[in-house]
Amino acid sequence: MRAMQLTLLKGGQLVVEGQLLTADLAIVNERILGYGADLAPPPEFNQFDTVDVSGLTILPGLVDVHVHLREPGAEHKEDFLSGTRAALAGCVTTVFGMPNTTPTITTRTSLDQAIVLADEKAVCDFGLYVGGTQDNADEAASLSDAVGLKLYIGSSTGDLLVDQFEAQIAHFMATPLDRIIAVHAEDEAAVRHYAKQGQRRPPICAKLSTAYLLTLAEQTGRHLHICHVTTRDELTLIRQAKERGVRVTCEVSPHHLWLNTQDEQRLGPYGRCNPPLRDEPDRTGLWEHLDGVDLIATDHAPHTRAEKESGTPPAGIPGLETMLPLLLTAVTEGRMSLADVVSFTATRPAHLFNLPDKGSIRPNKHADLTLVDLNETWTLSDDGLETRCGWTPFAGMDVTGRVKQVWLRGQCVYREGSVVAEPGYGQRVQQGQAG
Ligand code: DOR
Ligand code: ZN
Ligand code: ZN
Repeated sequence: MRAMQLTLLKGGQLVVEGQLLTADLAIVNERILGYGADLAPPPEFNQFDTVDVSGLTILPGLVDVHVHLREPGAEHKEDFLSGTRAALAGCVTTVFGMPNTTPTITTRTSLDQAIVLADEKAVCDFGLYVGGTQDNADEAASLSDAVGLKLYIGSSTGDLLVDQFEAQIAHFMATPLDRIIAVHAEDEAAVRHYAKQGQRRPPICAKLSTAYLLTLAEQTGRHLHICHVTTRDELTLIRQAKERGVRVTCEVSPHHLWLNTQDEQRLGPYGRCNPPLRDEPDRTGLWEHLDGVDLIATDHAPHTRAEKESGTPPAGIPGLETMLPLLLTAVTEGRMSLADVVSFTATRPAHLFNLPDKGSIRPNKHADLTLVDLNETWTLSDDGLETRCGWTPFAGMDVTGRVKQVWLRGQCVYREGSVVAEPGYGQRVQQGQAG
């Protein structure tokens, strides 16, 4: 029988069920046993570890359902190790990797190959999407060990594009009802049309695509998840669709919440992403309608400085190490509550993607924990980042709230500014029955 290992985290402030609670937290092996005031170890444990965490606030580990880990094929930008190390440094204990790799993850074989690589290298838990192509609807739908289907309705980094109705409807119809269809929603014809006029992906590209996809989801009854929503109007369309019973959820990304087109001017290629940063009314619109947003995901999309400074800079912004500090700063500024942060970045993503072990501090869940000092003010910087790209568009910004420790399945995996988990500690997530 496996030895039972008990750990007591003493004196922290926990975020449980949307409330702040000063309590001790007991962990047995990989899972949370329970919490309470002045917990004493149960009598069957004659050996246990106690960790003093007074002064720290404990949130569930974050679940980021939108990350580009670049492996296989672009390991010079990121790989499963550097990307998951960046995740842990940002308190993200579960990442979902996107399939726009080289080769793309679009078949049984390519998914298996990526799983082998991630199993060897990941330091945080992970899931992988299967990408849709013009002709893989049946195969993609059969890959039940992918966490969801990703469709690019408009082209972006990589070769994945499903811009024809025939293939789109085939994917929607083939996808099991309990599986999420996550979509990069920009209308390809509109993207091309405006490019010819010298305009880079104006808001109408996203709005057209979102309206169209909502109709497809309504017609087919499938669960549509719209990635990185950037405009006020899309949030209105999504809300109206939800009200008439369409199965739709959506995410926003920190760069669209914090940066606008003026920042894009300032940042040059480092502010280039798809969909692009928007004007101030759309940026503030996302904040004003956060109640219509289901989750926040980074869309961590690293590219090297050399690539960004080339004549043809690729689109994409890294975000794993900056999302939580930004959100905690929003809490300090009174723009959202700590419970909102937990809900947007842990509880809801875990619930929507059927991860029964993840997403909240509750008995029997995995002990995936984020320990932060809510009062420490510091400055985001390019120095010391774990992501291989080595830069952040937020360098120089003062933030309040700093990660002190991260725990994953009962083990401390990050402390004192260092990742201490070994490559391969990360496991592939298990999805439960549809919730
Ligand atoms: O800006 C983006 N970068 N948008 C995407 O859709 C893809 C991503 C990437 O992979 O670089
Ligand atoms: Zn995208
Ligand atoms: Zn993306």
